[in-house]
Amino acid sequence: MINSISPRFLDRIIDAQRPFMPLMPEKRNEVRKIISAIRENLMFQVADYHGPSFFPYGHEVSPVEQEFNRGSRSFAVQCLANSGGIAEIYVGKDTETKRYFVIKRLNDKYRDNPNMRARFRREASLSRRLNHPGILAALDYSFGREDLGEESFIVYPFVRGLTLLDFLKRVEVHKRTLTAEQALAIMWDITDILMVLEEARVLHRDLKPDNFMLSPGHINNIVLLDFGLSSDPNDPIKLTGEKVILGKMDFAAPELKNKGSMVANIISEIFALGVVLIVMFDPSLKRFERDCDYMGFASNPIATPLTDDVKDKLPPQLIPLVERMVDHLPGNRFAHFWQIQRACEYLLYDLCCR
Ligand SMILES: Nc1ncnc2c1ncn2[C@@H]1O[C@H](COP(=O)(O)OP(=O)(O)O)[C@@H](O)[C@H]1O
Ligand SMILES: [Mg+2]
Repeated sequence: MINSISPRFLDRIIDAQRPFMPLMPEKRNEVRKIISAIRENLMFQVADYHGPSFFPYGHEVSPVEQEFNRGSRSFAVQCLANSGGIAEIYVGKDTETKRYFVIKRLNDKYRDNPNMRARFRREASLSRRLNHPGILAALDYSFGREDLGEESFIVYPFVRGLTLLDFLKRVEVHKRTLTAEQALAIMWDITDILMVLEEARVLHRDLKPDNFMLSPGHINNIVLLDFGLSSDPNDPIKLTGEKVILGKMDFAAPELKNKGSMVANIISEIFALGVVLIVMFDPSLKRFERDCDYMGFASNPIATPLTDDVKDKLPPQLIPLVERMVDHLPGNRFAHFWQIQRACEYLLYDLCCR
């Protein structure tokens, strides 16, 4: 129905994508084959860094004598994989089937906090509603009884692999760097997941390398974790007050850090993703260590994360892409995840096929 598209509308689409013109279908197919090959190669590298151990977590502790019970099922805890501000992540073994699962347990200090419990419920329900192989659906959950101070936990499939952050740190330890092609292939996969969120009008609000996993064995190879701070249009309860920044400060767009700030939207999510792309080439995280309080907000927004020394570390072909993602002005950024995906295709074609 190309006749029904007005030239002006076409111009607007082309303008929105400039300088990354969308590829024609046959070139897109070619690029998709290239992405598969890069992804396969990348997964070999992840498997190498992961090694044979089942739990390659740096913060692994000795097995905890604990069991989570849910109806007739119970999970024997094998290790504490992570302990963050809001939740602890245990790897547990189903006592009957012997399969491994991840149990995300709300921290004791929030046991009686109705806001945090509501967030936790939202995480479980969102994870089940969003339909993409790169999103883990909660298999089970228990929210206990608030008046009895019972514990809340969510059960997820166990993903064997490394978080993007752990992977990048290992790349650095091995004195290697990601190639531009690898970063673009990862970005392509990530935007594929985020397009599903955009369609459902869900904002993740905590996009950062520790919330993505690379897994050679998982059907999607890249998994987006942690909907703990997400917004849900179907959930009328507003859990976040005005002027509150969620998530890690360095991934928060400047407009969110201003006083009298705007609320998060797709365009601020795109900023966070731009910082993820920067971190792929600069994982030392020296500038990225100030975590903001979960209920705090910054009074002095920092300027662009794309400073000259950061630009030196990025492959030059990627700089225009990163610029469009982390521009100080929201209006200069991409407006949709599909645009970033098309830009990745354009750049990959340029790098691999010309
Ligand atoms: N399903 C899973 N499989 C394997 N590891 C996981 C899984 N879910 C979480 N993790 C590990 O636990 C960490 C924290 O999980 P996350 O859901 O992001 O909780 P938090 O809210 O504490 O950040 C992740 O960065 C990852 O290392
Ligand atoms: Mg997390």
